[in-house]
Amino acid sequence: MINYFIVAGLGKNRELGLSNELLWKLPEDLKNFKALTIGKSMIMGRKTFESIGRPLPKRETIILTRDHSYKQDGCVVLHSIDEIENYLTQSGKTEAAIVGGGEIYQLYLSKCSKMYLSFVDFEGEADTFFPSFDASLWSEDSLEVHPAGESTLSWKFVTLSRK
Ligand SMILES: NC(=O)c1ccc[n+]([C@@H]2O[C@H](COP(=O)([O-])OP(=O)(O)OC[C@H]3O[C@@H](n4cnc5c(N)ncnc54)[C@H](OP(=O)(O)O)[C@@H]3O)[C@@H](O)[C@H]2O)c1
Repeated sequence: MINYFIVAGLGKNRELGLSNELLWKLPEDLKNFKALTIGKSMIMGRKTFESIGRPLPKRETIILTRDHSYKQDGCVVLHSIDEIENYLTQSGKTEAAIVGGGEIYQLYLSKCSKMYLSFVDFEGEADTFFPSFDASLWSEDSLEVHPAGESTLSWKFVTLSRK
């Protein structure tokens, strides 16, 4: 049994991205992302991989796509959540980070036991959104408030566990 956890940054209306790019730059949030994923397996959709453009160092990148001819150096390309579960189990893994985008969060939300969410003080155009979820099913383990900087938005870093 694999423990899946979500890592995501959401705007005020659950905005995730626009034109296959992120909507803000928050260096501190990127540090959180790194700390949560380093040494682990990350599962991402093909579009998110193409947005990042390369496998991130010191982490395993698993790309989900329906295209069986799709290949990327330095990444594991798989085609269904069952295939991913089998792969992780056979590799002796016990957990994996779900790192987006919208389609992949939607696919894994019901399978995740933990979510690390950055709620960013952003409201604006987006074409990709985090799925709506019932907050009453989750308990808040921790909350960090990050005030706005000179060139950065304010944001809150919240850790949620499924009740
Ligand atoms: N704010 C954040 O924390 C955050 C994090 C990550 C990404 N993002 C943003 O999110 C956006 C991308 O998200 P997205 O929802 O458009 O795309 P995505 O979830 O990254 O990728 C979608 C692709 O995943 C594959 N896929 C989806 N469901 C599948 C299934 N059941 N079986 C096999 N393959 C499946 C398909 O690939 P094929 O088309 O190749 O078959 C699909 O086109 C970008 O703007 C990115 O910057 C934001």
